Amino acid sequence: MMKRFFPVFFLISSVSFLYGQMDKNLNVMPVPAELVVSEGKFRVDTTFTISVMGEADKRLYREATRMLRRLDGRTGLFFKQDVISADRPEEGTSLIIKCNRPGEVRLHEDESYSLRITATEIRLDAECDIGAIRGLETLLQLLHTDEIGYFFPAVAIKDQPRFPWRGLLIDVCRHFMPVGVIKRNIDAMAAVKLNVLHLHLTEDQGFRIESKTFPKLHQLGSDGFYFTHAQIKDIIAYADQRGIRVMPEFDMPGHTTSWFVGYPELASAPGPYSIERTWGIQDPVMDPTREKTYEFLDAFFKEMTALFPDEYLHIGGDENNGKHWSASEDIQEFMRANNFSDQHDLQSYFNQRVLALLSKYGKKMVGWDEIFQPELPKSIVIHSWRGKKALVEAAKQGYQSILSNGYYIDLIHSAEKHYLNDPLPEDTELSDDEKKNILGGEATMWAEMITEGTIDSRIWPRTAAIAERLWSPRNIDGVDDMYRRLESVSIHLEELGLTHIKNINMLLRRLAQQYDVSTLRIFVDAVEPVKGYTRHHQGVRYYSYSPLTRVVDAAQPDSRVGRRFSRLVDRFIREQDLNLIDEMRYWLELWYGNHSYLFQIIRKAPVLEEIESLSYDLSLVSRFALESLDAWEANVTLSPSWYQHAAKALETAREPRGQVELVVLDSIKKLIMMANIGENEN
Ligand code: ACM
Repeated sequence: MMKRFFPVFFLISSVSFLYGQMDKNLNVMPVPAELVVSEGKFRVDTTFTISVMGEADKRLYREATRMLRRLDGRTGLFFKQDVISADRPEEGTSLIIKCNRPGEVRLHEDESYSLRITATEIRLDAECDIGAIRGLETLLQLLHTDEIGYFFPAVAIKDQPRFPWRGLLIDVCRHFMPVGVIKRNIDAMAAVKLNVLHLHLTEDQGFRIESKTFPKLHQLGSDGFYFTHAQIKDIIAYADQRGIRVMPEFDMPGHTTSWFVGYPELASAPGPYSIERTWGIQDPVMDPTREKTYEFLDAFFKEMTALFPDEYLHIGGDENNGKHWSASEDIQEFMRANNFSDQHDLQSYFNQRVLALLSKYGKKMVGWDEIFQPELPKSIVIHSWRGKKALVEAAKQGYQSILSNGYYIDLIHSAEKHYLNDPLPEDTELSDDEKKNILGGEATMWAEMITEGTIDSRIWPRTAAIAERLWSPRNIDGVDDMYRRLESVSIHLEELGLTHIKNINMLLRRLAQQYDVSTLRIFVDAVEPVKGYTRHHQGVRYYSYSPLTRVVDAAQPDSRVGRRFSRLVDRFIREQDLNLIDEMRYWLELWYGNHSYLFQIIRKAPVLEEIESLSYDLSLVSRFALESLDAWEANVTLSPSWYQHAAKALETAREPRGQVELVVLDSIKKLIMMANIGENEN
């Protein structure tokens, strides 16, 4: 009898999560705080109607109408009801929404709601319309089908967020993102109950907002790509309609090259300046020693604080390398005269001056964790990006803080990794009062490596997992169940106009030109872009005008195929279920055979040459895995030299090419190692 070779590490690789799971049939994301499923179904047919009662803002009538249109769009049913108004509900109204007061789109507004569905009626109750709007999203996610048609399952939900600050940062500077991109992402945010859009508006590479007070800011600092005041108002109104705050960030004193193109007198080193075209930390920095700098900022904030109604304004404050401060005689003299011991003291002075200006205009200051200095009052909010230490330390010292470390979605990590990154883990060392200082977190969409065509695929669906982390109770942490629900959320996001799914093939069509993209798609689904900051440092020098249209840009973070194959192989190894072999063979044969077809397309599309050898490697390692399965099934012993060749092929295949890497290699390795290897050459 052949020895079945299953190393121990295979067996411990996939402990399934039995806790923290939703009811198997429900696709709600984020999971509500309390949810009880009962017997019964509310049937949805053409008679479906909605009434709004109580003291609602007009926001709620519009959102209820939008919900009705999304529901008929999804079901294809011709509902009788047109626009929902404040008329008294008719007899037999399907969904009755009631709230006590109009809400305000601000931090700590009550977002709670309760949703009760029975076979005969749906009731959505909330303190204010913002909570009701959250509940409408839950209801839409609850739509199910059976052999009769569409229905909402009978449930009783009581829901409220775990954290009041649940954000998405969009960097519109490194690559500009037009209003349409922002709006569709606001729709997506609302769908998963995020409530803060953080617009990163100014950078070395672009000044992306019109300034009527200092027009050379956007005229000379933006290449013509910026939001006008009218567009900003439009975005704010659109977000307000969905109960989402818009917080602007004007990053300073560093990250400010684009300001200096038109106003070099603000800078610490003499100009002239031009818009930065490379990525990374730059030297240009505001001169914090001149009164003129604060006069300028005063007038600038006067204009911007009038434009943005949110109570909070982000001043950045990150990554000032201090080089231009050290190089300036005047600045060094100023530091000596004021007894500043280092650049941190000087930046702290700058922050205090900026804080005074913001306070004058009634705004609270938010900044990256570099601004966390004991001289600043407790009213500021610390935004932690370099590590969780600042988050916890700030909270301990009585500062409010928000977390983005671990939510850097530009770094191409898995949804799982972000999902398990808890702002307040169970073993946190904070007291209950200190815990309240942790307001929540933000996913950060930095835009060095994205365009308007790829941004959605870098934000979604992974950000829905972060949204759940910030909304749902901490013990909702089942990774498999999260991924199950993420798939349905992803489709619902596409329904809202997000391009994260459809643009993959759009990019592939461009790459393959007139040729069929199916073989290219098979390859792309088996790879992911390289992770972390690797892409910046991998031989390719990127400028802000470099193409982002290669295979790496079509490749998706957190490959579904990779995850599925890995689950399949792990299950096979764990359970030795022979029924799983066919499915494994299906994938391996697909990859094995793919190269000879893809090769024909690569020959005609030079842009694809960079992935040719990786496609070959995928084919080769798949062949070895197939041989291993054959031998395993036939109880045949394979030779040491076979194994050496397979191991060599695996090693070669690990090398990224075209800035993508194969994601199925660990699983293929497990299959190869399953083979029974003989002692000597046959
Ligand atoms: C940052 O990523 N520099 C906030």
